[in-house]
Amino acid sequence: MSEKRSAWKSNLGFLLAAVGSAIGLGNIWRFGYMAHEYGGSAFLIPYFTALLVAGIPIMLLEYALGHREKGSPPLSFAKISEGWEWIGWFMPIVAMFGIMLYYSVVIGWCINYFFYSFDLKWGADTESFFFNTFLEISDSPTSFGGIRIPIVTSTLFVWFICWVICYRDVSHGIEKACIIFMPLLFILTLFLVLWSLNLDGAGIAVWEHYLKPDWQKIASWKVWTAAFSQMFFTLSLGFGIMITYASYLPEKTNITKNAFMTSIINCVYSLIAGTIVFATIGFMAKAQGAEFAEVIKSGPQLAFVVYPKAISLLPAFNELFGIMFFLVLVIAGISSGISLIEAFVCAITDKFSFNRKKTVTVVCIIGFLGSTIFTTRSGLLLLDIVDHFITNYGLVAGGILECIIIGWVLKSEVLRKHVNETGTIKVNFIWDILIRYITPGVLLIILFITLKTDLANNYEGYHTDHLLIFGVNWLLISLIVAVVLTFYPWKPEKLKREHLPEEDELLV
Ligand code: ALA
Repeated sequence: MSEKRSAWKSNLGFLLAAVGSAIGLGNIWRFGYMAHEYGGSAFLIPYFTALLVAGIPIMLLEYALGHREKGSPPLSFAKISEGWEWIGWFMPIVAMFGIMLYYSVVIGWCINYFFYSFDLKWGADTESFFFNTFLEISDSPTSFGGIRIPIVTSTLFVWFICWVICYRDVSHGIEKACIIFMPLLFILTLFLVLWSLNLDGAGIAVWEHYLKPDWQKIASWKVWTAAFSQMFFTLSLGFGIMITYASYLPEKTNITKNAFMTSIINCVYSLIAGTIVFATIGFMAKAQGAEFAEVIKSGPQLAFVVYPKAISLLPAFNELFGIMFFLVLVIAGISSGISLIEAFVCAITDKFSFNRKKTVTVVCIIGFLGSTIFTTRSGLLLLDIVDHFITNYGLVAGGILECIIIGWVLKSEVLRKHVNETGTIKVNFIWDILIRYITPGVLLIILFITLKTDLANNYEGYHTDHLLIFGVNWLLISLIVAVVLTFYPWKPEKLKREHLPEEDELLV
């Protein structure tokens, strides 16, 4: 007998879980660096264009689809047409095995650094500490060089926390966790932003490098492709998460308002997190008498090389700042990690009617074992390649496919009518035009330019073999598995539209 489908207890619980999924490691290290590299506040133009052209329209699409079909991504697509079910598998497979495997390891690093903050263990040379002492990094992605015990231990802890949260049904697990996590995250962030803005040199750095626009930078295609792929990553779109989360909502729900709120809260959070990054690095540059551009670094280096150095240089309470900063990263990471797992678990339980608890346990064990590859000495090099491929190709491709199926097979009017039945903000025909033509068209151009740039640069110097093994093959295998899973037949009653009977009031 199949279990009763999970449901959120309140709209606030759902919203906090969705915002928790969206706000993650990407908002803190990815956005800050991008804003610096791509023209300061001028970057907000491609960023908000991406939000309007792809972010909000696809958020609305994913919420509406999951809510209307009351299903995981494979079930939702199968209800439209069984031939398209593979798209619904591709997305959570990419989320679970493309992203969560390395994402959990990065959260693990944050846990390690959280403990290192107590005595500023990274010392004076934070770069050497991160690469040589902590990662013991190898010189090539295929020279694994064995597992690093401190990293595999913290990664195991991350999977354990995720398992504890996901084990119970969504209202008792994910919803409860996010009701605690998200307010805590907002309070800690507010504290850090006020603290960092009061540091010497912070204000001028925020103005010079963050707020002052450099219009020339946004004339490059690279900036626009980066803004679009960041939008998918940061809003957790193309992962199947938002389809899954919306499928647990009651019948009468304000979908439009939820979609706008999730997207806007996430982007405002990125702007605030960016302020912390620029203020602290500005202080550090001044303290060292160095140029801002010389000290800021990209991706993981920002959090694990630049930030520890800045923390060590603080005039007082260095340890406390470090503890709070890495705690923010851990909370943001876990609340996204559980959503990456949930999208896959829901897909499996919907299709095979397996017991949720057993499925979560098996998925977390497999996930942990899979993520050990990123705990090896070549972990950082591998995750760099996988992250590049999954974010730039996997998520964007998922977005294009969603638009085509909803826009042309189901017809976007059907979903539009569905959300307008209960939504207070009415969606008009402009959304249909976006979903049918503009969003997939722009995303196709973005995909083409990314491919062209990668081919021209040989992916920034990586050897082609590595590129093929860890990048293209990762995506191809996900696609093949997605197609194979589609062949297993559905129980006919699963494909019927059902209604959640007991919660019929309009939640706002
Ligand atoms: N949306 C999550 C992040 O930004 C995955 O990290």
